[in-house]
Amino acid sequence: MNRSTSSSPYLFFMQVIAIASLLFVSFFFSPSHAWAADKDKSRWDKKYSTEKYVFGREALSFVQDHVDLLPKGHALDIAMGEGRNGVFLATKGFQVTGVDISSEGLKKAEALAAEHSATITTMVVDLEAYDIPPNTYDVIICTYYLQRDLFPKIAAALKPGGMALIETYTRDHNQYRPRFNKAWLLKPNELLTMFPGFRVLRYQEVDTGETAFASILAQKPR
Ligand SMILES: C[S@@+](CC[C@H](N)C(=O)[O-])C[C@H]1O[C@@H](n2cnc3c(N)ncnc32)[C@H](O)[C@@H]1O
Repeated sequence: MNRSTSSSPYLFFMQVIAIASLLFVSFFFSPSHAWAADKDKSRWDKKYSTEKYVFGREALSFVQDHVDLLPKGHALDIAMGEGRNGVFLATKGFQVTGVDISSEGLKKAEALAAEHSATITTMVVDLEAYDIPPNTYDVIICTYYLQRDLFPKIAAALKPGGMALIETYTRDHNQYRPRFNKAWLLKPNELLTMFPGFRVLRYQEVDTGETAFASILAQKPR
């Protein structure tokens, strides 16, 4: 009797500590990430929920201009969106897989592919929590999505001789879109440092007076 009355405040205290620790761990780790991913997905799904192709239906010039340099085979389009680049590659004979967090975007990519009588494979993934299979792709493209920790994963996911094609905004873009988050803008020459050991086949930094971006085409050693 004595024992149970003397230990119950201690037990209660320990239970409170255990519950508080659980709440702390769950708040600061998994759910916060899941919450951010859900928010990202809803934002992009909403943006793509229109018949119009928000980013257009034509592949970027940098993709069109260099398609003949790309090694034929399996291409991965990272953050494919509505599919303008991936579908173009599919029409050129590549076997294309596209990944994106937005199912709405990927639905439009599938529709665009069907219009061109092309086939693509799509997967809804959160790139913040996705491991690209290593040594798998002949070509990886990633345009207008900057997540810096993906670059080593892209390098590893390419087969020897495979090529990475990247294009996204640079810091100069801030003069046209002052509210654009600086963390998502490339520093001068930054793309040139992202694929150590690769051969840089093409690189450009462009300022059109309305937008500013950098593009790279780099090849993994054979
Ligand atoms: C500016 S759009 C670019 C789309 C496409 N690459 C293009 O150039 O047309 C950025 C894309 O990143 C995707 N995205 C954003 N956060 C993501 C995440 N955590 N995982 C996967 N895709 C994500 C969005 O759904 C969107 O399609």
